[in-house]
Order: sequence, then C-alpha cells, then structure tokens
Amino acid sequence: MDERIIVAIDGPAASGKGTVAKKLAKILNLPHLDSGQLYRRIAYQVLKDSVNPNDKKALIELTKKINFENTEIEDLRNDNISSVASIISQYSEVRDQLIEYQRDFASNGAVVDGRDIGTIIFPNAKYKFYITASLEQRAERRYLQLKRDNAEIDRNNIKNDIKMRDLRDINRKIAALRKAVDAIEIDTTEMKIDDVIDFIVKYIHKG
Ligand code: CDP
Repeated sequence: MDERIIVAIDGPAASGKGTVAKKLAKILNLPHLDSGQLYRRIAYQVLKDSVNPNDKKALIELTKKINFENTEIEDLRNDNISSVASIISQYSEVRDQLIEYQRDFASNGAVVDGRDIGTIIFPNAKYKFYITASLEQRAERRYLQLKRDNAEIDRNNIKNDIKMRDLRDINRKIAALRKAVDAIEIDTTEMKIDDVIDFIVKYIHKG
C-alpha cells in the first residue's frame, strides 16, 4: 500500500476509535497516532503542576516544555485527566502547538485518531471514518476497560463524564467534534471491533 496514505478516524468519547485505529495500523503496516494522548499528556502536566486549566498563558508555557514522544505515562486514561483534557483542548493556544507534531508524525503515512483529524489536521486524508455508538454502549465499553485496573469504578460517573466531554467537544468554538463531509460514518453500537476493522480494511482495499 502507498506508504503516504493517511487514514483519519474521528468520533465521540469511548466509541472504540482508538482500538480500531491501533489494530488497523498494524494490518496496514502504518504508524498509529492517538491524538487524544497528546491532550491527555498536557492534562497530566496541568494536574501535576497545579496549573489552572483555564489560564491560557500558563498552558502555552507548559505545553512548550512537554516532550510528546513520551506519552507512556501510567493512567493517562483516568476520569480526571479525561475531563481536564477536554477543557484544555478548547483553546486554540493549545491546539495550534500540536498541529505540527501531528503532521510531522504522519509525513510518511499513518492512521490517526481523534476529534478533528479528518476536518482540520488532515482535511485531504485519503480515507476518513467517523466511528460512533450509542452513549449507553460507549459508557459500557469504557466501564469494562477501566474496571480492569480499578474495581471501584462507577458506571454512572463514567457515563456522565462521557456525556459532558461530548457536549464540550461538540460545542467548542474551534476544531469541534463533527463528521467530515467526506467521512464514512460507522455506527458500532451493534458491532464487534473486529467487524468494524473488517469493514474498513475491505473498504480501503477496494480503493
Ligand atoms: O479515548 P476517548 O475517546 O475517551 O478520548 P481521547 O480520544 O483520548 O480524547 C480525550 C479528550 O481530548 C477529548 O475529550 C477531547 O476533548 C480532546 N481531543 C481533542 O480535542 N482533539 C483530538 N484530536 C483528540 C482529543
């Protein structure tokens, strides 16, 4: 396959896009970038350094210092980090600093997942998918995922967190979560991850 191919995968929180993107990248032999990890990495630092997540000046300074190659930090997926990630990602001051990193990463082709990949980061991506599922199904998937590490986790809190983040991501002024006009929408509520991957691989191989 052409090594400069970009596959953009967007969708709401916990829709399974990360898992799909990771497996797909392996199959297509392309690098995978989970852009949410970049926002989570900043959120982690915001919490660690006790920075006010609405202080744009402080956010710029903090973001400049982060090495985004290193997102292998434990527990970037916890609720607190998710919420702060969705707060700081509203600001163009933060988003603009991540554009170059994402485009450089994919300069030889990549599978990239997030919220604005098919709309803002790679508007000319050859393949664009918008992966979604019902709120109930997404909350259940995230619950099962987080429960593996934390038996105390609360189903309702997870559902509320996802709902809040979706609202924030959809209604923000810049790079809002939406399906690119030329993206293929896949509702995965009733689908297994492997079926989603099969569908995408077949679609790509058809050209
Ligand atoms: O895995 P999940 O769908 O729960 O979230 P994520 O993809 O790791 O993203 C965490 C948060 O980062 C989202 O709620 C968005 O607010 C933000 N984000 C974004 O604004 N743009 C992206 N391209 C990716 C994530």
